[in-house]
Amino acid sequence: MRKKVTVVGAGNVGATTAQRIHELGYADVVLVDVVEDLPQGKALDMLESGPVLGSDSQVIGTNGYEETANSDLAIITAGIARRPGMSRDDLLLTNMKIIGSVTQEVVKHSPNCILMVVTNPLDAMVQHAFRVSGFPRHRVFGMAGVLDTSRFRTFIAQELDVSVEDVQAYVLGSHGDDMVPLVRYTTVGGIPITELLSQDAIDRLVQRTRQGGGEIVALLKAGSAYYAPSAAITQMAEAVLLDKKRILPCCVYLEGEYGIDGLYMGVPVKLGEKGIEEIIQIRLTEDEQTALNKSAQNVRELLEVMQNSAQSAG
Ligand code: APR
Repeated sequence: MRKKVTVVGAGNVGATTAQRIHELGYADVVLVDVVEDLPQGKALDMLESGPVLGSDSQVIGTNGYEETANSDLAIITAGIARRPGMSRDDLLLTNMKIIGSVTQEVVKHSPNCILMVVTNPLDAMVQHAFRVSGFPRHRVFGMAGVLDTSRFRTFIAQELDVSVEDVQAYVLGSHGDDMVPLVRYTTVGGIPITELLSQDAIDRLVQRTRQGGGEIVALLKAGSAYYAPSAAITQMAEAVLLDKKRILPCCVYLEGEYGIDGLYMGVPVKLGEKGIEEIIQIRLTEDEQTALNKSAQNVRELLEVMQNSAQSAG
């Protein structure tokens, strides 16, 4: 029997993810959105590409959750983008409500699923989904590091005029301006980039990686990135669906690892059919640890805003 994947949010990221997973051919996809007929239309369009692509996987669109029952994996991309005049906190609290209600529905219909969160601000949203789901930590994680790392790898490959396949990199921390690219663990064909690029060039590429999301937003004018995000999600989905035990940076709940307790942060993990099968701890330099702590502090501030709002509402 084919595995079943639910994708909540049939916008740019969700629909492109559904398309990528459908094209792999070994998992059925249920696409959910609040907008009437939108997920149904996109799902039907994808399904009709099956004969050309040679994919027998089923794709259905729905505005409810009955069809999502017993999914192996649920990917949450639902949310709103920041609109003009909207504060960062407004966006945070609106998406928090969306993530809360979506998580409840997903969990009710698929109590044994693995939950991957994509909606921004990522670290805070996945922490909220974790709390609402009541799932163990290995079954709730977020996608950010694979995308950030992919951007970093793209820029390094361009700079050195080498294949992207030969560039390995790591980006830790929260998804945002204070992500922590681990230059020491970044290699090209096994050679540390410090041997191949000047410090100035490395700093420039790190800075471009930090602002990678913003660079796309500025170009698109409306909306944000989705081709690279959906590719990153699909790589993680494949690690789970095929039990690949990939070593990838994911946003996971730390309980003392990296000196951080009770917080979601991006770190390298082993990803397989059970979800997060291991948190891989690498030794950080003082500077890297300081950067990671700063990243953690910024996420804690978002969580505080969320907590205060929940308290004043309750
Ligand atoms: N349930 C289901 N779907 C919802 C809900 C909800 N409660 N609320 C909003 N949505 C849907 C919207 O109707 C829309 O179709 O979520 C979709 C979001 O799609 P886009 O606006 O196209 O946003 P997208 O570019 O896909 O980004 C989604 O992923 O990378 C992050 O920052 C990005 O948080 C954003 C998310």
